[in-house]
Amino acid sequence: MPLKAIAFDAYGTLFDVYSVGALAEEMFPAKGAQLATIWRDKQIEYTRLRTLCDQYADFWQVTEDALVYGCAALGLTLDEPARARLMGAYAELKAFPENAHELTRLKVAGVPLSILSNGTPWMLEQAVNASGLSGFFDHVLSVDRVKKFKTAPEAYQMGPDTFDCAACDVLFVSSNCWDICGATWFGYRTIWLNRYGLPLEQLGIEPHRIGTSLSDVADFALELAQE
Ligand code: LAC
Repeated sequence: MPLKAIAFDAYGTLFDVYSVGALAEEMFPAKGAQLATIWRDKQIEYTRLRTLCDQYADFWQVTEDALVYGCAALGLTLDEPARARLMGAYAELKAFPENAHELTRLKVAGVPLSILSNGTPWMLEQAVNASGLSGFFDHVLSVDRVKKFKTAPEAYQMGPDTFDCAACDVLFVSSNCWDICGATWFGYRTIWLNRYGLPLEQLGIEPHRIGTSLSDVADFALELAQE
């Protein structure tokens, strides 16, 4: 089966969502890591609730709502400057260190690269530019176009539509196992980047490959490209 393209998830996969923890720790000593975790978990929970109930609000809004919830849950006062500082950090998350090198390997091999993310077009543009990754991606696809978050099939459908091919000809990459389960169900080839040593989700579906960094993605994609 030929490999036509790669679609990367963004948050957690290319960009380190827990890198905001350092700023959160500076602002709320001893609570930074906990806040970063609640913030991320609530953000994903809200995307699912909103999609299930057809109540779309974009990912920037959802991210801010989750931050407000996280601070309230930990009894932290989130005034306007603090909110703006943390949201500003979220707009410019750090990329994982191996990204540029591994994306270059794929680019040199001629594999079309894309991002398929819950993020808004603005958030993705900011993150890509801030991390110096602009120029690698042929397409940056935001679910904002379909107003449904992953794991809705309409969100995943943007990949095959963009590359004019079957989902199984696209390799989908995510560090979020739930996203990998959704993408595998949808029909993509998948590789789960298990960056945090987590167990597989127990949903009766498994990724085609498991790796720990983007170098495993490049190896797998280059293998597939030779088939
Ligand atoms: C994304 C989130 C799910 O980038 O990580 O779509």
